[in-house]
Amino acid sequence: MREKIVAGNWKMNTSVTEGVQLTREILAGATQIPEGVHAIISPPYTHLFPIAQLLEGQNRIALAAQNCAEESKGAYTGEVSAGMIASVPCSYVILGHSERRTYYGETDQTLWNKLVQALENNLRPIFCVGELLQEREEDQHFQVVASQLKHVIGALEPADFEKIIIAYEPVWAIGTGKTATSDQAQEMHAFIRSFLAGIFGEATEKTPILYGGSCNPSNAKELFSQPDIDGGLIGGASLKANDFLAVAKAFE
Ligand code: 13P
Repeated sequence: MREKIVAGNWKMNTSVTEGVQLTREILAGATQIPEGVHAIISPPYTHLFPIAQLLEGQNRIALAAQNCAEESKGAYTGEVSAGMIASVPCSYVILGHSERRTYYGETDQTLWNKLVQALENNLRPIFCVGELLQEREEDQHFQVVASQLKHVIGALEPADFEKIIIAYEPVWAIGTGKTATSDQAQEMHAFIRSFLAGIFGEATEKTPILYGGSCNPSNAKELFSQPDIDGGLIGGASLKANDFLAVAKAFE
């Protein structure tokens, strides 16, 4: 049995006060999260510490950062290291989100450096891949995703690979209201699993592969019922406690 995961990526939204309030609301409804489903919230850096304090002493909701630095410490003004994030404490980090790749020029090399930092500091990476609309229209989507995986995830030692969570987020579905159909998503998830199996073999059966891109309470059940979709990475719908909890409940 693979882990089931619902992760909320808040992106650059909410003040600290609003983020704390949103966390309180999610915690208040956490009993609705089906047994065995791991719920993760990923607020901005500034919110991590107060939210970690709120989450202390419970195990229904875990915490993720949205990014980390490539280096471990030193003169890198404005950066936040994986060690700092782990010290919050925080357990997960999202890496390779398409917004980071597109707006901040993150390359395979950047992501490799960040992945190494995350793993050295015991942060579990949620590694994002996904194609642009044009790449899908040109039928390049499998090649694009294979390349994003091969040069970074494919270079890991098997023991580290076992810690990885993959998120497939077709860029054309992010924040557009245009979800991939469950068939399109399943097709890509199955491809990702078989591609990784070519490198890591059977271990891939345990790799959680999440879908992201306009996933919400009305489409989550259909998506999560697919054999290779193990949960979701949720943007917009994770900013409302009831919607986030409803997505988690889609596993029922
Ligand atoms: P939306 O759910 O808002 O489309 O965002 C998806 C996403 O980018 C999650 O990381």
